[in-house]
Amino acid sequence: MLNDAIWMQRALDLAQLGGGYVVPNPWVGCVIVRDNKLLGEGFHAQYGGPHAEVNAFKDIQDAQGATAYVSLEPCSHTGKTPPCADLLIRQQVSRVVICNLDPNPLVSGQGVAKLEAAGIEVHIGVLARKGELINRRFFYFHRNHRPYITVKYATSADQFIAHPNGDAHLFSNPISQQLVHRLRAEHQAILVGVNTANADNPSLTTRVWPGNSPMRFVLDPQARMDKNLHLLQDEFPTYIFTHEVAKSEGNKHWIALGTENFLQKFMGYCEEKAIQSILIEGGTKTIEAFIRDVEVQEIIHIESTEVLGSGISGPQIHPEESESYKLGTDNRWSIQLGKENLA
Ligand SMILES: NC(=O)c1ccc[n+]([C@@H]2O[C@H](COP(=O)([O-])OP(=O)(O)OC[C@H]3O[C@@H](n4cnc5c(N)ncnc54)[C@H](OP(=O)(O)O)[C@@H]3O)[C@@H](O)[C@H]2O)c1
Repeated sequence: MLNDAIWMQRALDLAQLGGGYVVPNPWVGCVIVRDNKLLGEGFHAQYGGPHAEVNAFKDIQDAQGATAYVSLEPCSHTGKTPPCADLLIRQQVSRVVICNLDPNPLVSGQGVAKLEAAGIEVHIGVLARKGELINRRFFYFHRNHRPYITVKYATSADQFIAHPNGDAHLFSNPISQQLVHRLRAEHQAILVGVNTANADNPSLTTRVWPGNSPMRFVLDPQARMDKNLHLLQDEFPTYIFTHEVAKSEGNKHWIALGTENFLQKFMGYCEEKAIQSILIEGGTKTIEAFIRDVEVQEIIHIESTEVLGSGISGPQIHPEESESYKLGTDNRWSIQLGKENLA
C-alpha cells in the first residue's frame, strides 16, 4: 500500500539518524500511526541505549489499534534492553509493518512469531531493498560472519595518491572530508598500512562529522611504525598487526599473526572478534592487497580536479561506478557497491 511505503520511508529516514553512534548495532527507525496520523516516532540513537520502538512510544498515551512501522524486525529476546515485541503487544497495536527481518538465523522470525501469536497482523518486506542498503554492513556481517570491507582512496585527476617522495597531498575538499569522517563513524574499524601511518601521521578519528571514532588498525608486519605518531601517542586505542611482536602498552596493542598468510590471519582475527565492518584508508599497497586477496564489498574513490604530474600511483583497480556525485567544484565521489548490494 502507498501509505505503508510512505510511513516506512519515514522510519528509514529516522533510522539513519542513529548513524555513527550505534555501530555495531543496526540502524533502526520506528513510526506509530493511527488513522494515517502520526502518534509518535523514534530511532535507535546510541549503542546500548533504548531501541527505536521504545523511543517511538515514549510520548504516546494510547496506541491501541495503531500501526507500528519498524525498519527491522522487533527483537524478541532480552539483551541490553527488554524485548520490543513485548512492548508492541503491551501497547495494543493492531498491525506491525516491517521492512527487513533480523538477519541472525537464531532470532530471525521470532519477533514476528511473538506478534502473530498475540493476534497482531504483521506485514513484512515494505521498502526491503532500501532497508538492506542502509544496513548493508550489519546484514553482510550476520550472513557471512566476516567483516564488510569498504575501500576508500583519494587521487589527483591523473590518479596519484601522494607526492613522489611519499608526502601526503590533501585531495579532499571540506565536503568530501565530512563524508570520509561520516564513513569512519559508520564503520567499526579503520585500517591503514604502516607506510601511510609513518608518512601521514594520521589520527584516523571522527572529527568533522558527529559519531564515534572507529577502532584503529595498522598492518605493520616488521613492527617499524614510528613511536612518535598520533596512533601511538594519543588517548585512543590502536591495534598493530605484526609478524612476531605481541605486546600491549596501555591501550596500544601489538598482535602477532606469524609470517604465513598474513592477511587471511588478520581476517580470521576480525571474524573471531566479531568486527562487523572495516574501512580501508590506504595506501596503495594495502588497498591492492585487500582487493587481490580478500573480498571487498564497496570501493569509494574521491577524485580531485588537481593534476600532480608525478607521484605514488593510486590503486590499479578501476572501479566501475555504480553511483557518482560531484562534491563542490573540485571533488568527485564515486562508489562501487558489491553485487550483493545491487541485487
Ligand atoms: N590519497 C589517499 O587516499 C591516500 C591514503 C592513504 C595513504 N596515502 C599515501 O600512500 C602512501 C603510502 O602507500 P604505500 O602503498 O606505500 O603503503 P601502505 O599501503 O600505506 O603500507 C604498505 C605496507 O604496509 C604493510 N602491509 C600492507 N598490506 C599488507 C599485507 N597484506 N600483508 C603484509 N603487510 C602489509 C607492509 O609493510 P612492510 O613493508 O613493513 O612489510 C607494506 O609495505 C603515503 O605516501 C601516503 O601519503 C594516500
